[in-house]
Amino acid sequence: MTTTGTRLPLIAGNWKLNLDHLQAIAFVQKLAWSLKDAAVDFDAVEVAVFPPFTDIRSVQTLVSADKLPIAYGAQDVSQHDTGAYTGEISGAFLKALECRYVIIGHSERRTLHAEGDDVVAAKTAAALKHGLVPVICVGETADDLETHGPSAVPVAQLTAALADVAADADIVVAYEPVWAIGSGKAATPEQAEQVAARLREVVAEALGADAAAATRILYGGSVKANNIAGFMRQPNVDGALVGGASLDIQEFSAISRFHQHVGV
Ligand code: PGA
Repeated sequence: MTTTGTRLPLIAGNWKLNLDHLQAIAFVQKLAWSLKDAAVDFDAVEVAVFPPFTDIRSVQTLVSADKLPIAYGAQDVSQHDTGAYTGEISGAFLKALECRYVIIGHSERRTLHAEGDDVVAAKTAAALKHGLVPVICVGETADDLETHGPSAVPVAQLTAALADVAADADIVVAYEPVWAIGSGKAATPEQAEQVAARLREVVAEALGADAAAATRILYGGSVKANNIAGFMRQPNVDGALVGGASLDIQEFSAISRFHQHVGV
């Protein structure tokens, strides 16, 4: 039994702009072998990868042909269904590739692509409309942390994202302090727990107590094999969104085996 009770922990690997479709096939195959060799119990953890769009069809074919116990999703989705939106990918297309998840509002999209809370809310609605589970990312910058403290910005971002979401919607929330992403300076487990607990209250206010009890809240930002156990011991942290370390099979496999680390 994990500290997350009935919520199935999710270890999610966000590849960002790494690995083409041929590399993706080799990677997912090796990851599956590594998890199998380590006798990972997939009733106790869900492992998901988030490759670039151009890899998804290859990953789908492999996962389905070999019946691999690995979920996958996209790193972004258009808020639009169809039409004159050059470069965009709709939720319907992702669903047709049997994606389970889609990351929404990652800080790199918010910063580099100027996606505000309105776009994040529209993309969340688009994902849900097409039967995808949105992994809604929220987090404060170092400046926000200094000015507003740790919870204010993530709470405001999640409140905005959930404004029009139905109470029975299946969502995942990822708390990713911007200062911890790719910096090697992860939040402490206590910091992650403090914000995750607040975010669970936000889910309760927006969607009700049942949704709050069922929703998985991940921590992201410099998660590694040597710090995952501390996060997973926290009652409100139900998994991790992993960037850099998700590109190293041994490391990502070790993170997915967090149960085997002391006391978890
Ligand atoms: P990181 O990235 O694990 O490399 O810090 C996390 C993320 O951006 O989701």
